[in-house]
Amino acid sequence: MEVVRRAEIVVQSPALLDGKNGNDWSQEEDDSVEEATLPVSPIVIESKRVDSPPLVPAQRYHEEVESNLQELQLEKKEVKLLEHEEIEDPGEKEEEKKRHLNVVFIGHVDAGKSTTGGQLLLLSGQVDDRTIQKYEKEAKEKNRESWYMAYIMDTNEEERIKGKTVEVGRAHFETENTRFTILDAPGHKSYVPNMISGASQADVGVLVISARKGEFETGYEKGGQTREHVQLAKTLGVSKLVVAVNKMDEPTVNWAKERYDEIETKMIPFLKSSGYNARKDVHFLPISGLMGINMASRVDKKVCGWWDGPCLFQVLDSIEIPLRDPKGPIRMPIIDKYKDMGTVLMGKIESGTIQEGDSLLVMPNKAHVKVLAIFCDEKKTRRAGPGENVRVKVSGVEEEDILSGFVLSNVFNPVNAVFEFNAQLQILELLDNAIFTAGYKAILHIHSIVEESEIVELIEEIDVMKKKKDADPKKRKPKRKPLFVKNGAVVVCRVQVNNLICIENFADFPQLGRFTLRSEGKTIAVGKVVALPAPGNSVFAT
Ligand code: GTP
Ligand code: MG
Repeated sequence: MEVVRRAEIVVQSPALLDGKNGNDWSQEEDDSVEEATLPVSPIVIESKRVDSPPLVPAQRYHEEVESNLQELQLEKKEVKLLEHEEIEDPGEKEEEKKRHLNVVFIGHVDAGKSTTGGQLLLLSGQVDDRTIQKYEKEAKEKNRESWYMAYIMDTNEEERIKGKTVEVGRAHFETENTRFTILDAPGHKSYVPNMISGASQADVGVLVISARKGEFETGYEKGGQTREHVQLAKTLGVSKLVVAVNKMDEPTVNWAKERYDEIETKMIPFLKSSGYNARKDVHFLPISGLMGINMASRVDKKVCGWWDGPCLFQVLDSIEIPLRDPKGPIRMPIIDKYKDMGTVLMGKIESGTIQEGDSLLVMPNKAHVKVLAIFCDEKKTRRAGPGENVRVKVSGVEEEDILSGFVLSNVFNPVNAVFEFNAQLQILELLDNAIFTAGYKAILHIHSIVEESEIVELIEEIDVMKKKKDADPKKRKPKRKPLFVKNGAVVVCRVQVNNLICIENFADFPQLGRFTLRSEGKTIAVGKVVALPAPGNSVFAT
């Protein structure tokens, strides 16, 4: 078994809004117009680390950048250790038959994410009995008896002492049809940037909710991480959600159908308002992560007589994620890099296929590189397609010349590199007394980019209530430019940054076209890129 730690890297983007329907972030026909108008809860994020892209990092982030670099050093060491482990040669043919899914575990602090993730590994044969016994002993010594299962994912001392995940834990397991990479995100609100990093690498989320009396309520209330994680996951591109109603074994729950139904009934409208299509994208099920019930096999009728649905493994194995085009243009946002007989770039391929020997371009610095080797998980492979988290060893560029947020792309169809773009934004929560107007400054998070930005022009406010009428171009009247907008508004505006950033229109590459705006540790708005300067230009023609 290997559980690989990743240093925290802020990666992100977000959200949202379908071109026709301001509140439907899922881009799919949703059946809940009235729910779309539910108040959107605030998203509170602690701004912990920032890797500002090109050129001069913003003054106020100097300290963070330095501490980031230290953390990156740490991560490099870990990755190198792995590399010196035996690298299996291709084994590719066998692997190619299986699809690969990145699954992130999200949810409020102490909901049981690490416990459930650990149990999943145990049940799939990744952890031996001796290790579990060792963890049981260690947990007892720390007066945290029930935490032993979480120790499979929580591998560092701080996490074990506090009983809280800090860094995103990473592990692999396989079922008959699928290779899974699981990412165990922290639930505590101080570590939301780490959660963002994990979620941005995943296609599927397992939202773990504690059914224990009082715990569901705390996680779900305003400011709780159940809400925040769901909204972030959606905006970060987690397209499917498995809602695991956990701790069903706990004495205050005791597999009560009423409690399960209550949670499902309360969660559904919220999930819809966050952009998930409750019928197509979300799957609820009851589990006990600690006891391993309804996970690898269906719950025994004697334990829970009313559940007729599948168990967690069955749900994960049957999840279908949108097909990505392996023949599409190559786009791999770089989340990290290090030197190792060449320059190694780490990231998730969002579009296209990268092959050994390829000549590619790193943008925005236009560095021509040649692909020397590709590693998927810890295995060497000749090619990797969309959705894969990879390390790509290249020649032709120095490690120092690459920054997080740069994008590996084709030579002849490179990613856009711009100083400005038009965006459709949904304002979630403005800080006290602030109004959203031209001149508003916030930190832009888009894929692995973190950059100071300014709203330079409000172009149009979109009236969500009149969206149907607006969708018909004949009925649509030209709008006056608004001077300001308030909380909850959906607005098209122009955003500028000081350094070149590599982004795409949401409609072309959703992962490179969704973003959040944050200020003072809070998410102010989520948005999508709707227009870019003409190809080859970094600013709009005047
Ligand atoms: P953070 O990483 O801090 O966000 O927490 P987490 O969601 O990873 O929770 P963790 O797995 O650390 O579990 C928190 C506590 O809940 C531990 O005491 C677990 O033993 C307990 N717990 C988790 N799952 C279950 C369950 O299914 N039943 C019961 N009874 N307790 C559980
Ligand atoms: Mg945890």
